[in-house]
Amino acid sequence: MATQTGITIDGPNKPEPLQQHSGLLINEWPAIIGSDCAAVVIAVGPDCQKLSPGDYVYGCAPLGQNRFTPFQETFLVEEKVFLKKSPNLSIEETCTIGVGILTAGLCLLGGAELELSEDGTKAPAKDEWIVVLGGTGSVGQFAIAHVCGYKVLASCSPSKESIAQVAKENGAIATFNSRGSVEEQLADIKKITGGNFARIVDSTAYGYEIMVKALETCSTATTKYLMSVDDWSEFKTPPTIKEYRAELGHLCRLDEALGIEVTKDIARWIPTFETHLATGTIKPTQYQVADGMGWETVIQGIQDLEDGKALKKIVARVQKE
Ligand SMILES: NC(=O)c1ccc[n+]([C@@H]2O[C@H](COP(=O)([O-])OP(=O)(O)OC[C@H]3O[C@@H](n4cnc5c(N)ncnc54)[C@H](OP(=O)(O)O)[C@@H]3O)[C@@H](O)[C@H]2O)c1
Repeated sequence: MATQTGITIDGPNKPEPLQQHSGLLINEWPAIIGSDCAAVVIAVGPDCQKLSPGDYVYGCAPLGQNRFTPFQETFLVEEKVFLKKSPNLSIEETCTIGVGILTAGLCLLGGAELELSEDGTKAPAKDEWIVVLGGTGSVGQFAIAHVCGYKVLASCSPSKESIAQVAKENGAIATFNSRGSVEEQLADIKKITGGNFARIVDSTAYGYEIMVKALETCSTATTKYLMSVDDWSEFKTPPTIKEYRAELGHLCRLDEALGIEVTKDIARWIPTFETHLATGTIKPTQYQVADGMGWETVIQGIQDLEDGKALKKIVARVQKE
């Protein structure tokens, strides 16, 4: 069991507003919502092997199960799928990591079959591109493909120079305009990669058509992979392409086969993520800290996001350490 220290509140595509406004991803009423969080362990069960009271932990709470959800003072943590804080990370930084890294992990380790080194070092550079649609979002910023040695080509909005800079700081060596026409984006992918890519990941949920067309018309690979955060639309992926959808919402749903598989995969990757976050090869994402402390700060942060007043993730402190 853990007590809450910080919560991340995020934009309109995120689980909390979706749960609050639509009731989706909720299994119990009345519902307690929340996903990204940081907390201090206050008690452990007899079978716990990793955590002890006083440990700082963070991660993505399993959605829709009240006993695990973090918009409450104490909640249960499944130790196999939470991360233990390393000294190089602040509590605020840890609040920004869970959902993004786990979803990026599902796409890139689960779907694209990449492998992170176990010792927290970057793999030697490969002469192969990987295309990341949305290199500046919470999911797209996690530089797993770069750390696995791939040359990363990321798409991003053309609106601000600083946006492309975020993708580059996270390992992209080239960027292209995600708001161009499909033909323009395909031309950019072909020109920059020369067709030397087999994997394309959509971390925006806007990119399915581009993924299929890029793999069919630009890639010279024999085995091709597309990975998507979109687990709700109907896809008709050609049989020549391996398709994978991230299904983080099934984390810790151990009464279903998909939930068992997602939970097992994530539990296997957690020690590697902890090592890479401790060595700094993988870094937290951008955020801003809300003024004040307590649950009123969380309510105000949600309001600010819904009113379009926040440009980045908001981290809210709910109590003193
Ligand atoms: N299936 C799962 O397990 C799972 C898990 C987590 C998240 N998700 C979904 O993944 C998506 C991204 O989540 P996130 O947390 O990374 O969101 P985010 O931080 O808000 O990032 C959104 C991304 O989408 C891009 N984007 C926005 N509008 C676009 C458009 N019209 N065309 C192309 N790109 C556009 C943004 O690019 P710019 O910043 O350059 O504008 C940014 O890269 C959401 O839909 C979320 O619901 C799914």
